[in-house]
Amino acid sequence: MKRIKDLPIYKKLLALIVLSSGVSLLVAGTVIVVYDAIIHTDQTLTDLKTQAEIVGASSTAALEFNDPRTAHQYLSTLNAKQSIIAAAIYTPDGRLFASYARDGAGRVFPTKENEGSRIEEDNVVLFHPIRQGEKTVGTVYLFAYLGRTERVLRYTGIVVLVMLCGLAIGVLVSTKLQSMISAPIRDITKVAQNMIHHEIDPVHSYRQRATKFGNDEIGVLTDAFNQMLTHMEKRDAALVEANRSLSAEVTERKRAQKLLDRKIHDLAQSNAELEQFAYVSSHDLQEPLRMVASYAQLLERRYHARLDEDGLEFLKYIVDGAKRMRQLIDDLLTFSRIGTQAQQLHAVSSEEALSTALANLTVSIQESGTRLMRDPMPEVLADRSQLTQLFQNLISNAIVYRRQDVPLQISVHAERTGSQWKFSITDNGIGIAPEHRERIFVIFQRLHGREEYPGTGIGLAICKKIVERHGGRIWVDSTVGEGSSFHFLLPAVS
Ligand SMILES: Nc1ncnc2c1ncn2[C@@H]1O[C@H](COP(=O)(O)OP(=O)(O)OP(=O)(O)O)[C@@H](O)[C@H]1O
Ligand SMILES: [Mg+2]
Repeated sequence: MKRIKDLPIYKKLLALIVLSSGVSLLVAGTVIVVYDAIIHTDQTLTDLKTQAEIVGASSTAALEFNDPRTAHQYLSTLNAKQSIIAAAIYTPDGRLFASYARDGAGRVFPTKENEGSRIEEDNVVLFHPIRQGEKTVGTVYLFAYLGRTERVLRYTGIVVLVMLCGLAIGVLVSTKLQSMISAPIRDITKVAQNMIHHEIDPVHSYRQRATKFGNDEIGVLTDAFNQMLTHMEKRDAALVEANRSLSAEVTERKRAQKLLDRKIHDLAQSNAELEQFAYVSSHDLQEPLRMVASYAQLLERRYHARLDEDGLEFLKYIVDGAKRMRQLIDDLLTFSRIGTQAQQLHAVSSEEALSTALANLTVSIQESGTRLMRDPMPEVLADRSQLTQLFQNLISNAIVYRRQDVPLQISVHAERTGSQWKFSITDNGIGIAPEHRERIFVIFQRLHGREEYPGTGIGLAICKKIVERHGGRIWVDSTVGEGSSFHFLLPAVS
């Protein structure tokens, strides 16, 4: 059996109405039946007493003159009263004086009792005194059929009939009335269920609205439900729109990323090709250059006497040019070797790399009278010779670009930042203007003429390439006329 709480609302309402009206009709019917039974008994008793009074009053003379026949005649008048079954008159000493029985003779009459009445089964027994003045001259006995059972049964039948009619009318009326309550609720439920089943197309399902039937609490609930649907519809539309633009954005991003990947790939390839080209060409250029230089020197040595002053000067230019070109080609070779002849990265003592670099620079350090301060240096993940080159280029720059009027001071410092080491090489040299701080790391970019400071403009480009190959970064802080700090990051040994 379905549990009551799972029954639909309209059935619950119907059951409630039928049950409550049934119970009230039953209570009312029972009260009526019980009340009637009590009233009926009382009325019958009163009625019998009156009859006894009348018969008694009529029979006083018959008692006085000892005339039982007349008394019997009076008793026989009780025949008109259907409920009286038997009647008798007793003398004060208890002798049966006269009697009457509806069903004829042969009836046994009881002995006289004191005044009063009692109910025996469904009959009433009454003894009533016959008085003359203050004196009791006899007693009337009445035995009557009360008919209580029959009456109760009849009334119960009526009550049951009324109840059935009442219930039938109740069901009819309540079927009409309960729909006023359950119909709006059923409508809200239907809309909610439709919404759940259209989950795939929420915008469409939120368009439905529940019908409002009135302004009671259910009407207010319907309004609130519909308002909620309106909010949901708006919010969902916004969500769908946001989703659409997001997916468009994602598609666009994917496309851009693909393009970027292809560009990176192309760039890496052309970079590798360029490197290879630079390496091969600079390597191959060395030979003819060596020839130019050596024959120019031979010319100078052997034909020195035969050349005039201009000839000797031109020859000097050729030798100088050849030397410079050689330097350029050497630098270019070094630069291109960073990528092509790189070693695997491994744990390297930067202390040792720095010492080697300083040893290589001993002469210029001594000549410039440099004061050097260095921190203890850590181990890093690097290519040892490239790390030496890095220190060497930066320190040699610090020496070259010093101020003539102050003694040169260089400090080398290292500090840990996360998974990397940050190295700083600081000088008190001429400094670099802010607008040049990016440019100096580009190959062949110089800020000074050769006459002012010697160099080819490749040293920092090499440094940048080395650091980036190690997954790090290089940059400069500087104040013109005060000095510069070159910083670079290298991976720590984990
Ligand atoms: N410590 C420094 N102080 C001031 N300027 C500097 C310093 N280091 C580099 N520079 C500037 O940056 C420019 C580029 O330096 P880079 O080392 O690349 O080339 P270079 O020193 O001119 O030649 P080389 O390739 O022989 O080193 C230099 O010409 C110089 O003007
Ligand atoms: Mg340099």
